[in-house]
Amino acid sequence: MVTVKEQYETYPYPERDPEDERRRLITGSPSHPVEMDHFLWQGQRDWSRTLRVLVAGGGTGDGLIQLATLMAQAKRPCEITYLDLSTASRRIAEARAKVRGLDTIRFHTASLLDAPEHGPFDYIDCCGVLHHLPEPEAGFAALRAALAPGGGMGFMVYAPYGRSGVYPLQEAFAALFEGLPATERLARARDIVSALPEGHPFRANLNLGDHRQSDAGFYDLLLHGQDRPYTVGELGEVMDRTGWALTGFATPALYDLSLLAEVPAGMAPREAMGLAEKLRGTIRMHTGYAVAQEAPVAPASGRNRSAVPHLRGVGAPALARAVSQEKPLPVTLGTVSTTIRLPRAAAPLIAAIDGRRSLTDLARGTGLDPLAFGTLWAQVETALAPWGLLLFSGLLRRSPAS
Ligand SMILES: C[S@@+](CC[C@H](N)C(=O)[O-])C[C@H]1O[C@@H](n2cnc3c(N)ncnc32)[C@H](O)[C@@H]1O
Repeated sequence: MVTVKEQYETYPYPERDPEDERRRLITGSPSHPVEMDHFLWQGQRDWSRTLRVLVAGGGTGDGLIQLATLMAQAKRPCEITYLDLSTASRRIAEARAKVRGLDTIRFHTASLLDAPEHGPFDYIDCCGVLHHLPEPEAGFAALRAALAPGGGMGFMVYAPYGRSGVYPLQEAFAALFEGLPATERLARARDIVSALPEGHPFRANLNLGDHRQSDAGFYDLLLHGQDRPYTVGELGEVMDRTGWALTGFATPALYDLSLLAEVPAGMAPREAMGLAEKLRGTIRMHTGYAVAQEAPVAPASGRNRSAVPHLRGVGAPALARAVSQEKPLPVTLGTVSTTIRLPRAAAPLIAAIDGRRSLTDLARGTGLDPLAFGTLWAQVETALAPWGLLLFSGLLRRSPAS
């Protein structure tokens, strides 16, 4: 068997060229500070306090570089600890940080099972790692033990239905290529995959593209020696057993059963999300946030008028223009598409969103009376927040003390 460490020494993931840091920043979920604040701290974190971060299984550094760069751009203090088993991945992550001049990161070649020795942490990023542990539950528990009071985790674990076709191939390749080195496995598997018939569940699966991006992507998807997906229910159970509570998935709409079917009266939220996962059938990973079980929190909401709204994935001027012209707004997330409509009167409100002004400021600026503002804002939030397009955070807001 090729061990997980051997795999990531041969094929650091994801494949990245540090020189690309000079021309673009890769952003995503989890571990965008605004999204972290929204899901973990109700949009009210005191960003003048140093954020102690663990990036557990940081790989070649996508989440790490995003978080360190955005904190530096916002001039907010942080100390980041990077852990990974793979020295090849670490070298790439270090080179990316160097190109960007980031000096807030300490790099360690170590297992995330040792996380508590490096902590405690206010924020833990663990993206695409826990499902690769021989005992994932030990990983969830180790990260929970490394969490500081009031802290939280941004995570991504694989999900089964959107990865249909992957696991039978992984099993067949593991048996066929026993004893072969990683490079040889890759060459042989590529031949077999290129000849799969059209109706094969893997070929028919439009949710997957990693195998077309790079060798590292192909290996990670189809030749991994240690890989287990989680249904919503299974994820909830492992979190229950290891002291975590889910605060939310990054795109809540995907898990909203009421958008897909009539929800039976009295159905528990986790069961409903599990049914939504089954009905959608396209979710290939669960990306979300979790906190300590004994101190559960809800995501931020505009009911708190001191909250500062941010738009994500869409610019305020473009959205405001579309709304003022009464144009429907198409939203595409992977293979899922929807259309958002908002009343024309919401256009000036949307145009005023700049990530710095609170809802109270926005209400004052538009001159609407509180009742009219409340009605309009509720429509904006209900339309955008479930799709991850609207988040609350005071990251960019300066109080006189900060
Ligand atoms: C699929 S990559 C994800 C990398 C990165 N988090 C990302 O999202 O781009 C998985 C990473 O987890 C690391 N890894 C696997 N098991 C680990 C463990 N027990 N402790 C630390 N890192 C681990 C691997 O070396 C690899 O770099």
